[in-house]
Amino acid sequence: MSCDLPLTPTLSPQAGRGSEQNPSPRASGEREGAAQREGEGQRPFVVAIDGPAASGKGTLARRLAERFGLAHLDTGALYRATALLVLDAAGDPANPVAAETAARRVDPRLLADPRLRADAVASAASMVAAIPEVRRALLGLQRDFATHPPASARGAILDGRDIGAVVCPGADVKLFITASTETRAARRVKELREHGAPAIYENVLQDLNERDARDSGRRAAPLTVAHDAHIIDTTTLDADVVFERACALVARALEEKEWQQ
Ligand code: CDP
Repeated sequence: MSCDLPLTPTLSPQAGRGSEQNPSPRASGEREGAAQREGEGQRPFVVAIDGPAASGKGTLARRLAERFGLAHLDTGALYRATALLVLDAAGDPANPVAAETAARRVDPRLLADPRLRADAVASAASMVAAIPEVRRALLGLQRDFATHPPASARGAILDGRDIGAVVCPGADVKLFITASTETRAARRVKELREHGAPAIYENVLQDLNERDARDSGRRAAPLTVAHDAHIIDTTTLDADVVFERACALVARALEEKEWQQ
């Protein structure tokens, strides 16, 4: 089953079929399609992927979305967008009032801003993410996406830190993707260099350690392994092996769901 709480019918960061590059407000026809799906008693199929920074969950989520026809939401982008709005206004990301105000202004169109990928924004994102009011402000948007994916999609896939435990506790499949800090730092360095950004391994490692500590140690929705999540440690696995394992889990859950309906 999918998320079970009522949702605010607001703009949805529609990323249909794995593309998060060009989110846009959902068209009314799609809402009708979703309403029809609900009218027929079909809950959308939901995949929740959680894991620490640079564990590869984003890439995995995009590939799964494409393989299974699921709409994908990178929930980290919502926290990054909140952080960017605070930084743009020369505010303090640790200030609850500034951060909550920014979170309420997050618009799906912001999610395509390339500045979201900057390290400074990632750091500020983990600060705003520790503020309970920010998490509450972004919860409706995430649940709305999960329960009302575009009609063209078979369901939704969300990746983040608290999807399986808080945002979508009823998700059909929960994956927890992890890897050693050193492996994650090396992957992040490679990714940054591929994008032409200078990256020093020691600095990236330190940044990841700090972010891990903040994400795991905060009181509001810390990074958690949901009790029913499949844990995949990717330290010694290449991305294709991880993808195939995840595909097998998703395919099995889809079959079970279709069989039940
Ligand atoms: O891509 P990466 O794993 O580096 O980070 P991200 O997924 O874009 O998330 C940026 C920050 O947002 C994280 O360090 C978390 O603090 C926060 N976040 C969160 O608290 N809950 C989520 N569901 C997603 C991200």
